[in-house]
Formats: sequence, C-alpha cells, structure tokens
Amino acid sequence: MITWSPSKIKAFQKALLTWYDTDGRDLPWRRDHDPYHVWVSEIMLQQTQVNTVIPYYNRFMDWFPTVTDLADAPEERLMKAWEGLGYYSRARNLQKAAKQVVEDFNGKWPRTAEELLDLAGIGPYTAGAIASIAFGEPVPAVDGNAFRVFSRLLEIDDDIAKPQTRQVFEQVIGTIIPTDRPGDFNQAIMDLGSSYMTAKNPDSENSPVKAFDQAYLDGVEDQYPVKTKKPPAGPDPILWVGNSC
Ligand code: ADE
Repeated sequence: MITWSPSKIKAFQKALLTWYDTDGRDLPWRRDHDPYHVWVSEIMLQQTQVNTVIPYYNRFMDWFPTVTDLADAPEERLMKAWEGLGYYSRARNLQKAAKQVVEDFNGKWPRTAEELLDLAGIGPYTAGAIASIAFGEPVPAVDGNAFRVFSRLLEIDDDIAKPQTRQVFEQVIGTIIPTDRPGDFNQAIMDLGSSYMTAKNPDSENSPVKAFDQAYLDGVEDQYPVKTKKPPAGPDPILWVGNSC
C-alpha cells in the first residue's frame, strides 16, 4: 500500500469533488439530505442496481412519504411496493426500523454511524452512508465499490475476502475523507466506481482522478482488489492451497 501526503489528499479531494459537482449523477434521493430519503434509497441499493431502483424509490415516496407513514403501513401494501425488488427481508427490516425511529427515538433519527447500527437492516456500510450523506459525519461507507476504488488508488494489497480487511480500508479512507463534504465524497466514490473505475473494462485513461490511480499508473489495475477464493467445502481442506496464504 502506498501512502498519500496531506497535500496529495487535498488535491485528490479537490479533483474528485470538482468532477462530482459537474458530472455526478442526478438521482432522486440526492435532491435533499433528508435521512428518510437517504435511508430508503440505501436499503434499496444494497442489492439492486441504480436504474432499477429509481422508479421503485419514487413510487415508495409517493406511497409512504414519511417515516411515520412507513411505520404505519399495512404489510400487504409494503410488500406490494417491494414486489420485483427481491430480498423481501429488506422491506420487513425497513418497517421494523421505521417503528424503532418513531417509537424508540420519538421520530428523531440517530445521527451517528455508531447509533444507526442499532436500527434493523443497517450494517456498517449503510450506517456510514446515512451518517455521512444525511448528517455530515466524516465516516467512510465501505462496500464492494469502495474496496475496488481505494484498493486501486492506493494499491492496497489486503485481501477483501477477510473480515478484518474492512477496518484497514475504513482507517485509510478516514484519513482521506473531507470533513466539510463527507457525503458528497462518498457518493462521488460510488459514481467513480460505476463510471471509470469499474470492475470490468475500466476507463481509467479518462478518469478525473487518473493521476491518483496508482494501480493504473503501474499498469496493474487488474490485480485490484485482492480477493482470495474461499476454500471449497469438502472432506480434505488441507489439500487446498489459496493464492495468498
Ligand atoms: N449505491 C449505493 N448508494 C448509492 C448512492 N447514494 N448513489 C448511487 N449509488 C449508490
């Protein structure tokens, strides 16, 4: 892994956010920072592509405009709103968390990533996304996309298949995320990962941060992120030799 100087970090923030200001995606949940909007969109986006989510998100907000509407919604209507998105436990957890906010927190949202983890269906990634986008907490939102983007930028060699690797990324990103625009920063990383720094056929040559993309500069993008395969389940695991153990 390489390290960046404070001035390089500043230059990266500027390049990324300048690009995001002009070329960031205009998405319905980005029009304000309402935690309800941010939260519902993040849950929908957990296992579903942006373009699929957009019409579902818009209809969901028509049907359940506030967290109280969602908490009070009949189960049948909730399931109808989710029909086609799959992973229905997400919808059930969504309502459970809405009830937690309304009943346990008196309608006041928990504002930090740490507190948000107490809500149903919210893990470290989603907590970081909501806390940074809705409440301006300078915390990373580490998902597969962030693993890919930052592993290439900094040539981070830690194996993302290992649970403890998340902490390595959170620590590093924590030193790069700007305190004044953490939510925009995290969403800019998402846009970068879906446009230039993609999993397949990246277009790093045209990336707004190509000068910071160490793996691209060294011609080794295809080696990041590092992800070992799990050993196959079987009677004789001793025969398996992983590629980095
Ligand atoms: N994927 C997950 N969260 C997202 C967001 N806020 N914008 C775009 N893509 C996302």
